[in-house]
Amino acid sequence: MKEFKDKVAVITGAASGIGLGMAKRCIQEGMRVVLADVEQAALDRAEKELSAMGGTVLPVLTDVSMLHQVEALAKKTVEAFGACHLLCNNAGVSGMEGSIWENSQTDWEWVVGVNLWGIIHGLRVFIPVMLAQDTECHVVNTASTAGLLPYHPGAAYHVTKHAVVALSEHLYRSLAEKGAKIKASVLCPGFVKTRILSSSRNLPLEYQGNPAAKPMSSGSEEAAWNYLVRNGFKVLSPDEVADAVFAAIKEERFYILTHPEFNELVRKRMENIIQGQNPPLGPVSFRS
Ligand SMILES: NC(=O)c1ccc[n+]([C@@H]2O[C@H](COP(=O)([O-])OP(=O)(O)OC[C@H]3O[C@@H](n4cnc5c(N)ncnc54)[C@H](O)[C@@H]3O)[C@@H](O)[C@H]2O)c1
Repeated sequence: MKEFKDKVAVITGAASGIGLGMAKRCIQEGMRVVLADVEQAALDRAEKELSAMGGTVLPVLTDVSMLHQVEALAKKTVEAFGACHLLCNNAGVSGMEGSIWENSQTDWEWVVGVNLWGIIHGLRVFIPVMLAQDTECHVVNTASTAGLLPYHPGAAYHVTKHAVVALSEHLYRSLAEKGAKIKASVLCPGFVKTRILSSSRNLPLEYQGNPAAKPMSSGSEEAAWNYLVRNGFKVLSPDEVADAVFAAIKEERFYILTHPEFNELVRKRMENIIQGQNPPLGPVSFRS
């Protein structure tokens, strides 16, 4: 996609962080934007901010882990704007720290529901809409560097982000084989200053109450980001990530990596695999 003016973007997790950064960028490009998010108050704030920029936006309260809510999102998008040209499957939650067995059934269900099923629903519902349009379209799935590396402190997060990379690779190939006018990218950012460390604010009530579950950050969000910066990690702003996403869409580039300092770890993982080496061990914590 090279032309964005008057085109329609649907962004999940649009009320905060990377999603909001992409929404702002879409408005700057002259697009109409459907903001899908599970958090009503944040959605209201985002609508106000983007409308003040002169944007045409449609906020739709959506839990992406629920198929019927994603179907309703598509219906509202088509009713309001008649099409969807850019789909950003971006909503995600960090889940809990701890080993696989310490995370409860519901800890797992929450993270897999949002991070993986949310994207599967987005693709199964919106790709047929895009195919029927037969216009230039693009899909961006948000994974993470966690989807390329051998470790992340959150087991469910780690698993779902690897799955999103595989899902996106499959998508890319099937769209190309079909000769569709839809391109695809997978976004694998490193650290981005957002509210991801406070994801448990959106933990559904029925999923609460596992005493063994530790949210990803126990301290303040600001302290956690400052800790990373103090320890030499590059922390990008959502606007910088949105720039990287739009550059990739224009170039029809599939992999969107924002933190080249992680490349060596990705290379090392691949070398370990083909040389039959075990995964590396060592202290890695995102806690502040
Ligand atoms: N911030 C980082 O360092 C980082 C790094 C790599 C990948 N990511 C990924 O970026 C994506 C966006 O996260 P962010 O960092 O902007 O965090 P964020 O918490 O600022 O934004 C995530 C948004 O998703 C929404 N959301 C949560 N559950 C939802 C649901 N069930 N349905 C719909 N919306 C829901 C939240 O309300 C929030 O507005 C996620 O997929 C995350 O895994 C973030």
